[in-house]
Amino acid sequence: MDKIRELKEQFEARLAKTDNLTLLDRVRVEYLGKKGSITALLKGMKNLSNEEKKSFGADVNKLKSYAAKRIDEKVEELRKAEIEREIAEMPQFDITVPANTARGSYHPITLVQRQCENIFKSMGFTVEDYPEVVTDYECFESVNIPKHHPARDMQDTYYLTNGQLLKTQTSAAQNAILRKYGKDLIENGVPIKAIFPGRCFRNEATDASHENTFFQMEGMMVDRDISISNLIFFMKTMLSEVFRRDVKVRLRPGFFPFVEPGFELDINCLICGGEGCSSCKHSGWLELCPCGMIHPNVLREGGIDPDEYTGFAFGLGLTRLAMMEYKIKDIRDLNSGSLKALAQFSDDE
Ligand code: DAH
Repeated sequence: MDKIRELKEQFEARLAKTDNLTLLDRVRVEYLGKKGSITALLKGMKNLSNEEKKSFGADVNKLKSYAAKRIDEKVEELRKAEIEREIAEMPQFDITVPANTARGSYHPITLVQRQCENIFKSMGFTVEDYPEVVTDYECFESVNIPKHHPARDMQDTYYLTNGQLLKTQTSAAQNAILRKYGKDLIENGVPIKAIFPGRCFRNEATDASHENTFFQMEGMMVDRDISISNLIFFMKTMLSEVFRRDVKVRLRPGFFPFVEPGFELDINCLICGGEGCSSCKHSGWLELCPCGMIHPNVLREGGIDPDEYTGFAFGLGLTRLAMMEYKIKDIRDLNSGSLKALAQFSDDE
């Protein structure tokens, strides 16, 4: 009997000192395991008389279930303590502080870009991405602007020490796109229909309408028998969708080395509807999108025979379009990073 009491007391003392689950497991093994001290008591009963065995055995079994119960209780206790400790260590916060519900907003150029992309995608155009750092060949020579051509004067830019430059126009991607899709056009008769929006750079003094960093969205379509009528159709459809009304367009001659003939595409003034107002300088028209029929030299440089195929290209000023759509007066607001200015343009997506 003494042995049992002694062991019980010892077990309780041990339990009291146990402060984590790993130690507790060890205690379980020490007392209740195959070689544990309570199990040893049972094994040591061999020499007792039958009478003694009965009562001693019953007591040991009692101790055994008591110990098992106490260990289970201790497990609960330690787990609870652990959770409480974790809660205490959690960062404290005040649930009564009103939540910050500001969701952020898309940049107006992103909104206009996505809108144009969706319109052109629905007309079967692919959307292409292109680097901002390009070579002189990509930006100029491949689009019919040889070294020392006067057209370069209007497109001064930022040069890297390795001779590469920040692209001045999305036209820099024309050659790569002609090469990428030319094979499919020639071998399988699949027309090239691609748009390629991108950030462009020019070494410009900035003011309300000039920035050194702006966005354009170029487009190209090449196939057999593409004519100016196709160009007018796609431009008119796109602009009517963007401005959510039927816009009238007109073409005026314009010079760009990579198109022949080249045009300035105007739309009838959205403010006065063509009557003449201060926005359109009383002409009734707004200049919006330079375009033209792709120059044979550009097609040839892209591996496409200009005697067999023709195409149109356009260079939409995305920044200008965003300013028109959202009535933004100062171009510098767009790159200002000012959330106050930019958050006004809610998106309806
Ligand atoms: N790359 C010209 C510029 O930035 C814009 C342009 C004009 C693009 C005519 C075209 C085009 O594709 O056909 O000034």
